Amino acid sequence: MRLAVLTRNRNLHSIRRLLQEASKLGVQLDTINPVECQMIVDGSTSRIVVGAQEISRYDAVLPRIGASITQYGLAVVKQFEMLGMFTVNSSLAIAESRDKFRALQMLNQAGIRVPATVLTRSQRSLRSTSRAVGGMPVIAKLLQGTQGVGVMLLHTPASFQSVVETLWDFGVDVFVQQFLKEGAGSDYRAFVVGNRVVAAMQRTASRGEFRSNIHRGGEGALVRLPRAYERAAVKAAQVFGLEIAGVDLMASKNGPAVLEVNSSPGFEGIERATGLNIAGEIVAHMVKLAQKEKGRRRKR
Ligand SMILES: Nc1ncnc2c1ncn2[C@@H]1O[C@H](COP(=O)(O)OP(=O)(O)O)[C@@H](O)[C@H]1O
Ligand SMILES: [Mg+2]
Repeated sequence: MRLAVLTRNRNLHSIRRLLQEASKLGVQLDTINPVECQMIVDGSTSRIVVGAQEISRYDAVLPRIGASITQYGLAVVKQFEMLGMFTVNSSLAIAESRDKFRALQMLNQAGIRVPATVLTRSQRSLRSTSRAVGGMPVIAKLLQGTQGVGVMLLHTPASFQSVVETLWDFGVDVFVQQFLKEGAGSDYRAFVVGNRVVAAMQRTASRGEFRSNIHRGGEGALVRLPRAYERAAVKAAQVFGLEIAGVDLMASKNGPAVLEVNSSPGFEGIERATGLNIAGEIVAHMVKLAQKEKGRRRKR
């Protein structure tokens, strides 16, 4: 069995942990740098060339595509798919979940609770926009972003208007979201592998901060996720068809609300907070999927 992980940096904690667990399980796991991949389509074939070498066949490929190379990374993942290789987290699933508003549209459609959210470009209707999300304060978010960057909390109509108009002026779209005061300063990160939450932590924002991301100084602690949160997290990953996902949820007046679904969630913070072996779960799941895929191929 040959597995590969797409990553720009094989020294990242998460990658080192995957390699470690793969070797423990006696599985070959190669790292491939996506930005070293040349994708060739020439009217008759699709190929991937790294250096001067054509990429060989893998039984499963795990994409770990950072936000800074989303578009290029998606082209790489797509090319692996064109070559008939099984990608754990497909290019479509990554693309649809990474656009945060698109993700909310799909979650909402699937009957999963999300905070009231408006995507607008209408200067004239900003007042009704803030009313639609429950009034001040409001959250404004860029369509893409991670680690809390691009998430803003705006307290007054004047600051709301000036920030949104400035971003529009720079050609940047933002969506406006209800500030979930019930759970403010604290959220849940559920780590989904397959159709199961394998670990969950509650993150608490540092003093004076509303974002609970670990990268913004938030503290994570092992938590037993309430059933309703667990169900919402698994269902949210399934909406996109993600096999591996980090789902962010917050408490709202009506129960758990999903904020976003990450297709390349890091696991340094959550392994530390929970003491659980998430890397091992991922490798074991990859092996299971690769075997299933092999069986399917044989039948064809
Ligand atoms: N609607 C909201 N109400 C209150 N806090 C929020 C809301 N949306 C996000 N936050 C806080 O900001 C953090 C980052 O938001 P998130 O949408 O997960 O973006 P990122 O991709 O940057 O992690 C969340 O973990 C949460 O603590
Ligand atoms: Mg988040």
